[in-house]
Amino acid sequence: MKDNFGREINYLRVSLTDRCNYRCSYCMPPCGIEKKSHNDILSLEDIFTIISTFAKLGGNKVRFTGGEPLVRIGAASLIERVSSELPEIKKLCLTTNGILLPQYFDQLNRCNLSSINISIDSLDEKKYTSITGGGNLENALNGLQLAKQLAPEVKVNAVLMRGINDTEILSFAKFARDNDVKIRFIELMPFAANSTFSKYNILADEVIQNNNLTFVERINNTDYYAFDSDLKVGFIRPLSHKFCGDCNRLRLTSDGKIMPCLHNNIEVDIKPYLLNGNVEEAIINSVNIKPKAHAINLGNLQKRNMNTIGG
Ligand code: GTP
Ligand code: 5AD
Ligand code: SF4
Repeated sequence: MKDNFGREINYLRVSLTDRCNYRCSYCMPPCGIEKKSHNDILSLEDIFTIISTFAKLGGNKVRFTGGEPLVRIGAASLIERVSSELPEIKKLCLTTNGILLPQYFDQLNRCNLSSINISIDSLDEKKYTSITGGGNLENALNGLQLAKQLAPEVKVNAVLMRGINDTEILSFAKFARDNDVKIRFIELMPFAANSTFSKYNILADEVIQNNNLTFVERINNTDYYAFDSDLKVGFIRPLSHKFCGDCNRLRLTSDGKIMPCLHNNIEVDIKPYLLNGNVEEAIINSVNIKPKAHAINLGNLQKRNMNTIGG
């Protein structure tokens, strides 16, 4: 499917739940989250219908996100079903904090996952616990080792935060080399209902300069920089180097909204289309109203919290 700006839309990010076993301040609302009722949440059957329709329309990549996707009962079964019944989905991916991978290892091992992204914002145990609101670094690192057995590509995501992890660039580069994974620092993004941005915001270019890094290559939304040939770190820079011109994705929220853009408040409610058996139309409409780019610099911020979108 092509959008109005000539971009091929073939990637669907599916948020399975807004709940999480962690409480990262940049992602969750400060007051916590209200538990949604069953009626507000798409069933796994509905989500499967939407993914299979997306596949019929030319989609070939799905990434499951959350909150934490694996806290939703049945998440691994849905992933297994997509894997076995939708061969059009060539890239089946998961973004997780890694904590529940031991519990679902056997099932996920049957899914032929292409890629797992694990969020680890600090390699310092105390900082990790503080950022996540009580998480345990050792459990996340154990999850990372399991992820390496489950998928050929494993990337670590760290949200870049001034005074928290902006001094850990070299440690992460060494960690990535020693563990044979990729590490990507993500510029902290502002959301209307979250004040973390003003406290911790730092652009990637500042740490690139401070660490004397040299540009190596761009892969999708990530620019890789190097200390030297085997010490590399990636940067996702939606603020300082926006990549909207190459955007290829739609998002589906667990409460049944298709979001054409992460940083735009336009949404298409898919529930009426599900009832009418017309999911195809909802997806095509969403592609047709996809904005050209975000306008964070003009102060247009997303009203949802990140835990309801999935990154
Ligand atoms: P792969 O390319 O398959 O690794 O996926 P990804 O990088 O899109 O996935 P991931 O879930 O790991 O997201 C990493 C970070 O990139 C998150 O903070 C996302 O919010 C951010 N990101 C992903 N897609 C977009 C996007 O379309 N726009 C913006 N502005 N940020 C995005
Ligand atoms: N800014 C940048 N990245 C964020 N993520 C969550 N909230 C934010 C934010 N405000 C990241 C998570 C996860 C990915 C899916 O999105 O850390 O790695
Ligand atoms: Fe795509 Fe919107 Fe992200 Fe830009 S901000 S890359 S248009 S989702």
